[in-house]
Amino acid sequence: MFIKSSLITLALVMSASATPLVGGLGTAVAIEKRNTLTKDDGSFDHTGALEQVVRDSNKHRRNLLNLERNEGVQAFNEGAHIRPVANLTTSLTGHAARQAESLTDEGNDVYWAGPISIGSNKQPFYIDFDTGSSDLWVPSVNCTSSTCNGKHKYDGKASTTSARKSGQFSISYGDGSSVSGPVYTETVTVAGVTAKGQYFSPVTQLSSSFAGEKMDGILGMAYPALSQFRQNPFFNSAKAQGTVKAGVFAFKLAKSGSELYLGGTNPNLYKDSIEYHSVNTGSGFWQIGSGNTAKVLVGSKAVVSNIQTIIDSGTTLIYGPPSQVATFYKSIPGSQVYDSKTGFYTFPCNAVPSNVAFSWGGKSWTISAANMNLGRVSSKSTQCVGAILGHDLGLGKDVWLVGDSFMKNVYSVFSFDQNAVGFASLK
Ligand SMILES: *[C@@H]1O[C@H](CO)[C@@H](O)[C@H](O)[C@H]1NC(C)=O
Ligand SMILES: *[C@@H]1O[C@H](CO)[C@@H](O)[C@H](O)[C@H]1NC(C)=O
Repeated sequence: MFIKSSLITLALVMSASATPLVGGLGTAVAIEKRNTLTKDDGSFDHTGALEQVVRDSNKHRRNLLNLERNEGVQAFNEGAHIRPVANLTTSLTGHAARQAESLTDEGNDVYWAGPISIGSNKQPFYIDFDTGSSDLWVPSVNCTSSTCNGKHKYDGKASTTSARKSGQFSISYGDGSSVSGPVYTETVTVAGVTAKGQYFSPVTQLSSSFAGEKMDGILGMAYPALSQFRQNPFFNSAKAQGTVKAGVFAFKLAKSGSELYLGGTNPNLYKDSIEYHSVNTGSGFWQIGSGNTAKVLVGSKAVVSNIQTIIDSGTTLIYGPPSQVATFYKSIPGSQVYDSKTGFYTFPCNAVPSNVAFSWGGKSWTISAANMNLGRVSSKSTQCVGAILGHDLGLGKDVWLVGDSFMKNVYSVFSFDQNAVGFASLK
């Protein structure tokens, strides 16, 4: 049985040895991940993966709707378009089976989560820190649907800093349900970093795709341009209020010792210098790849070039435009289409590529074989499913969505001060 409190460990890290960017003390949040989309027997969790694809599609659909309203379509990447709500069609699901399974086996969850508190009475929540969106939501005491069972619920009456605002927050999910609720402001604290008057939604409806997951809600860490509240996300509020000195945060995502560091970088976790790349800030995302520098490599050969990349801690996998991903897999020996509808490919399990890398014009940042491999097609199969899939999320013609399958290989740094994303080698 899973004991929640044992994982809610807050670590304060006082770091005096600063890189030029740090400029002050930062704060570390211990975060954890329970697994990938690989089952205990080493096989690929296809149902869980399809659920992820639907959730990722609808999250980014909502981002584009927010961006269009906040900045206009001129902020869109070339070829970006708002796709219909993605659905899990019955032929793809086994949805009920997955839900039942995840209640007993928490190993299939696929996010990086840690503790936060909301309100004057410090109501605790367990939160997915998401660089691919910009709003905060948690379940409300007024959420009566069964999908909120077992989750922490925000009670505005118990907090003296609670304030109701006008408007409604909502994200549609393809299972016919949505995440929605009223808009509030509150005092929000993450590992000692506090933002007062932070906009968030205590949601009264929770999509079934979140049922049975340990995480209570999501804290968005992308730019304000993606905010449905049209307000600063938590970290920007904290920076504006001076409770965090440097506008920099950084992730180590690993099997153990994962950490989100607020207000700088943690030199104990990486070695050598951090390689920074300018963000295309107009898109609202942590999007890098300006000047046609970004490419996907297999060995020393660039197989796809001139791409844009969105670095998204809230996405498990790596998505590319279908035609570019097809081109990529032509360079992977023995690869074949596995699921043409969703865009998954396989390769032989005895030849999992260990030389796939992204480059933004500097070093090549390699994805390990372990992080490329989502597991065997079935427990006896000799084919394994790849972590890069070809699926159009509407984000743009040459845009790749680069999630944890990449981020697990590097120390990643997100700087609002420099509008840059940096990567360094993990220690
Ligand atoms: C998903 O279902 C909704 C509501 O039934 C529908 O409006 C939408 O077009 C569907 N999306 C796709 C991609 O089929
Ligand atoms: C829950 O509903 C009650 C009654 O309508 C309301 O007073 C309260 O503010 C709501 N709380 C939250 C957190 O939405």
